[in-house]
Amino acid sequence: MSHYFSIGLLHVVLALLSLTAIEAISLPDCQTVAPQQKTLTSVHTSFAHFVNAPFGIIFDSQKDVAFAALVGSRRNSTLGVLDTSTFTPHLIRQIPLPVAFESVAGVALTHDGQHILLAANTGGVLVDAARAIVGSPNAVVGTLNGITGNQTPGDGAIEVTVSLEDDFAFVSQEYGSSQTSNRGDIDVFRLHKPTANGSITTTAIGYLVLGHEVVGTTLSPDGSILYATSEGSAQNDTNFGTLSVIDVETLKTNPSKALLSTVLAGCSPVRTIVSSDGKTVWVTARASNHLLAFDAEKLVSEPSEALLASVQVGTLPVGLTFARNETRILTADSDRFNYTNATSGLSVVDVDAALAGQPSVLGRIPTGLFPREVAISPNGRTILVSDILSKEIQAIDVATLP
Ligand SMILES: *[C@@H]1O[C@H](CO)[C@@H](O)[C@H](O)[C@H]1NC(C)=O
Ligand SMILES: *[C@@H]1O[C@H](CO)[C@@H](O)[C@H](O)[C@H]1NC(C)=O
Ligand SMILES: *[C@@H]1O[C@H](CO)[C@@H](O)[C@H](O)[C@H]1NC(C)=O
Ligand SMILES: *[C@@H]1O[C@H](CO)[C@@H](O)[C@H](O)[C@H]1NC(C)=O
Ligand SMILES: *[C@@H]1O[C@H](CO)[C@@H](O)[C@H](O)[C@H]1NC(C)=O
Ligand SMILES: *[C@@H]1O[C@H](CO)[C@@H](O)[C@H](O)[C@H]1NC(C)=O
Repeated sequence: MSHYFSIGLLHVVLALLSLTAIEAISLPDCQTVAPQQKTLTSVHTSFAHFVNAPFGIIFDSQKDVAFAALVGSRRNSTLGVLDTSTFTPHLIRQIPLPVAFESVAGVALTHDGQHILLAANTGGVLVDAARAIVGSPNAVVGTLNGITGNQTPGDGAIEVTVSLEDDFAFVSQEYGSSQTSNRGDIDVFRLHKPTANGSITTTAIGYLVLGHEVVGTTLSPDGSILYATSEGSAQNDTNFGTLSVIDVETLKTNPSKALLSTVLAGCSPVRTIVSSDGKTVWVTARASNHLLAFDAEKLVSEPSEALLASVQVGTLPVGLTFARNETRILTADSDRFNYTNATSGLSVVDVDAALAGQPSVLGRIPTGLFPREVAISPNGRTILVSDILSKEIQAIDVATLP
């Protein structure tokens, strides 16, 4: 009797626990300073200093090289080519960029590894990776120019994402223009095949208007979906921003019809990554100081049930990356508004614990000022962080992460 009674009680307790767990997943409100985290003192890190301020950063797919968008103060932004054969990267050279694309931000690499794309102004710049690495002339091989007639959907490009076949580029325009009713948008560009001398012509196809301040974009591993964050929703009836799910095939031909679904995603969601199985979409909700996880399938089929996890990280997280075969996520907690009693840093998150609703932040790695974007090397051993305000690129030794 007492045996059955205690099993019954156990079931009641388990049911209550699981109810609590389900209720615990709701969107986090806006927050100013995040609670202090334990500082990880045993993580090996090192800093390289620059004259220009590093924004986007990405590793080359073949060589021990990384590329960084270096924002200049005098319309002299460049693409920095970094030697990463040593733990602390060092600058090999800078490729000058056309002045019309001085406001350089995010960086991407084509899937064939041959071209670097920089998001800037009305679209961006295309650079030949091999030419940039060896320093041969004409490394800049094309531009993405969103101006059609005398109108442009936006002049504040933040990120660029390339289609799986490397034939289209999708650029987030943070503020849009009067043409987009001052909402942000995704500009769509066709990338034509390189000519004999390596130059690439591009065609502006159109744009998809989303919420306010469209910033982070990422492609699903099978290339069929583009995810994009808007810091504010299109409606302005909530503090929350949104995560949008976009059909890539439609985006290529008929951009304004490509939106599949939109969910609220905390306060000022700014960057997003997808797991390599395509099942989980992670978002930094900057003004919530939280990392959110969404079920990719439910984002379309059952959006109100898509939120899987909500993790308290540090103050104002922006960039994020997976590490250690996707068992860890690092968020770049920017502290970009320099709140009293807040610190910048990288939160190290245990992915399985986060998805199980368990405590999952393993601690904080100190950084320079305003860590913004994060990249991991193809061999998974090194993470580079652009500390844009202190003009540093910081290397993290992945083997020393908890
Ligand atoms: C850009 O201009 C600033 C101000 O003149 C200068 O300090 C900096 O070195 C320049 N950067 C490059 C890459 O030339
Ligand atoms: C490359 O070829 C295109 C035409 O195919 C031409 O418009 C362009 O000026 C050439 N660029 C250089 C650097 O020679
Ligand atoms: C909505 O909010 C954005 C900022 O997120 C602002 O720029 C825009 O003017 C607002 N629109 C309206 C109609 O209030
Ligand atoms: C990642 O997984 C692969 C195979 O599944 C394994 O060989 C490798 O050691 C793992 N790497 C890390 C950093 O755990
Ligand atoms: C951040 O604020 C403190 C005062 O709270 C000030 O001393 C410091 O210079 C500020 N840092 C930056 C980078 O603005
Ligand atoms: C900052 O932290 C100190 C020490 O904990 C505390 O006394 C102070 O009230 C805090 N200031 C703010 C603005 O939170």
